[in-house]
Amino acid sequence: MKRVAILISGGGSNMVTLARDMLEGADHPARPCLVLSNRPDAGGLAKAEAMGIPTAIVDHQDHKGDREGFERALIAAIDPYQPDFICLAGFMRILTPVLISHYEGRMLNIHPSLLPKYKGLHTHARALEAGDTEAGCSVHEVTAELDGGPLLGQARVRVKPGDTPGSLAARVLVQEHQLYPAVLRRFMAGNRTLLDLENHEA
Ligand code: GRF
Repeated sequence: MKRVAILISGGGSNMVTLARDMLEGADHPARPCLVLSNRPDAGGLAKAEAMGIPTAIVDHQDHKGDREGFERALIAAIDPYQPDFICLAGFMRILTPVLISHYEGRMLNIHPSLLPKYKGLHTHARALEAGDTEAGCSVHEVTAELDGGPLLGQARVRVKPGDTPGSLAARVLVQEHQLYPAVLRRFMAGNRTLLDLENHEA
């Protein structure tokens, strides 16, 4: 049985859907072994505990100005749970080669844009400002380039008249919850081909 550690910073809705797929989905080859947050107040921690998943906190505030020290503390907290894969799910930290090289080839991230467009923050506002007719989310392998690793999956939604960043984010989040579990299953099976969820009625 493969083991997956999920890193969060906030509400953890992507963590919940990944964990549910592993715990309740049919014939899933993995189980969640840890949910870790860099923020002690992350709402996702209580959700993980309610699902019986071990949790941990490594507060980045304890490592002010020392990104690499923070990441060494992350590794020290994560590795005792012996994860085979790491899923970043709303984990709002920019990573250095310390963490990336340690988990190279087995760390995924979900980003709320159709990469390579809109790396970084405020993705939905930027898509709306640009007048894009579609938006969406991407799952990629984590490499040294911020939001830039090999693409593994994308889901698209049509931008609707009157959309705000909030309304668009809400529709994209529904797609994230479809995309990430599907991509993790494929990744574990060694399938690196792009999964493209066209979902224009969304
Ligand atoms: C999601 O939009 C995700 O794409 C981004 O963080 C947001 C919140 O995710 N990385 P979650 O509800 O904490 O999973």
